[in-house]
Amino acid sequence: MNKEIKTNEIQIGLLGCGVIGTQVATELLNGNLDCKLAGKNRIKLKKILVNDLSKSRDNSIPESLFTNSPDEILLDPDIDIIIEVMGGEKPAYDYVIKAIQNGKHLVTANKELIAKHGPQIFGLAHEKKVQIKLDATVGGGIPIINTIMDSLKANQITEVVGILNGTTNYILSEMKNSKKTLEAALKEAQDKGYAESDPTNDLEGIDAKYKTSILASLAFHQYIAPDQVPSHGIKSISPADFHFAEELGFSIKLLGLAKQFEDGHISTSVYPSLVAADQPLARIDGVLNAVEVRGDLIRELMLVGPGAGPKPTSSAILGDLLSLIKNISSDFPLPYKVLPANARSKAEESSSDEKYRFYTRLRVNDKVGVIRDLGIILAKHQISLESISQKAHTPDSSWEKGGEATLIFLTHSIGEDKLKIALDEIKQLDPVNEICCILRVFE
Ligand SMILES: NC(=O)c1ccc[n+]([C@@H]2O[C@H](COP(=O)([O-])OP(=O)(O)OC[C@H]3O[C@@H](n4cnc5c(N)ncnc54)[C@H](OP(=O)(O)O)[C@@H]3O)[C@@H](O)[C@H]2O)c1
Repeated sequence: MNKEIKTNEIQIGLLGCGVIGTQVATELLNGNLDCKLAGKNRIKLKKILVNDLSKSRDNSIPESLFTNSPDEILLDPDIDIIIEVMGGEKPAYDYVIKAIQNGKHLVTANKELIAKHGPQIFGLAHEKKVQIKLDATVGGGIPIINTIMDSLKANQITEVVGILNGTTNYILSEMKNSKKTLEAALKEAQDKGYAESDPTNDLEGIDAKYKTSILASLAFHQYIAPDQVPSHGIKSISPADFHFAEELGFSIKLLGLAKQFEDGHISTSVYPSLVAADQPLARIDGVLNAVEVRGDLIRELMLVGPGAGPKPTSSAILGDLLSLIKNISSDFPLPYKVLPANARSKAEESSSDEKYRFYTRLRVNDKVGVIRDLGIILAKHQISLESISQKAHTPDSSWEKGGEATLIFLTHSIGEDKLKIALDEIKQLDPVNEICCILRVFE
């Protein structure tokens, strides 16, 4: 028997009242959601957990609701549903597990929590017969999780690819459209509240890695841990790369990619990628997110929308809350299987077999024979080139030194391992000063 609501009043415990929690609390308190339940139930926000009780808060939220004692919520038998918007791995994981053990349903926006601990959380929820809803963990207001888990359930999904991080997409768009450096675009993103004061998780692709891990696990019904998703950030990209990408007919986007091949192999990655200028993903600019899904029945579907921010994210959280209440006594089926720790996953088997075209930009001394020496090494590793060009200077010239040149080349499709071995040799050539940037072409 599933845990059912005991009265017609559904009591909510909110874990966290920061950017997202404040918006969620305000919406819960204004009573607008009750009418969406067709008069059957009333939603009551019972308690809000925060870290620092002395912090000043939105004055529409009564002070009496706040607590810094987690057990006041996790052990309260009257609280039916927990909304977790604390973020981070710990203590969120311990709180969520304790809540489920006490029979509470969960709505969460925490991608790190679900990416790292999805199997334990879903397993316990299944055992305790409570619901878990997680639409806000990926794509903010875009209903991509619910689309994959519900609307596309009948499909055999083969690929999910997306711009999953609004901060890096804003930075890349500013670098392309306003010719800014990465540092200047980041500062602007921080000033506008799009980037956190410590932007490491965004710039290094860690946030996109968590989201790719969740999307891949749900799309292919097999848990893919975040450390199985090879990830690269955007720090090495300079305005010069946008100039050369444009010359070659591409835009640059940080893409999270999850693909399942016919033999069952799964490939996942987060990679700064060249996207052909006429592809829809190339035109998604600013803080928007976009996700493309390919499946046998739907063929191709693309969802675009605001990937973060309090209002879009609460749209996903509160939508989840309402559908949870509607289906509160349904079974919670496990969304994916978890392979034993000693079994080699399909994701790990596949990565080295894949082939892509790669763009590489190098800083070299402007000497006769550089291209010849580079060509000899590439030929030795059977890497053929689609194009190569040497420029006397880069368009931004920020690091230009006398006697230097920029060399860029685009390979035909090759395995990344092969390129890495060749680049290690190229790095040793006397006139090569730096391998500045490697981008993958998204086909
Ligand atoms: N921001 C977005 O646009 C966005 C979009 C999609 C998903 N999300 C996800 O939503 C979640 C919340 O994000 P946010 O931006 O709202 O974060 P935030 O502004 O940093 O808020 C975090 C809240 O959790 C509380 N908290 C943190 N650690 C705690 C602890 N140990 N004990 C008790 N309370 C604690 C904080 O308390 P104090 O207020 O006392 O510090 C704060 O109220 C994250 O998982 C994030 O990934 C955010």
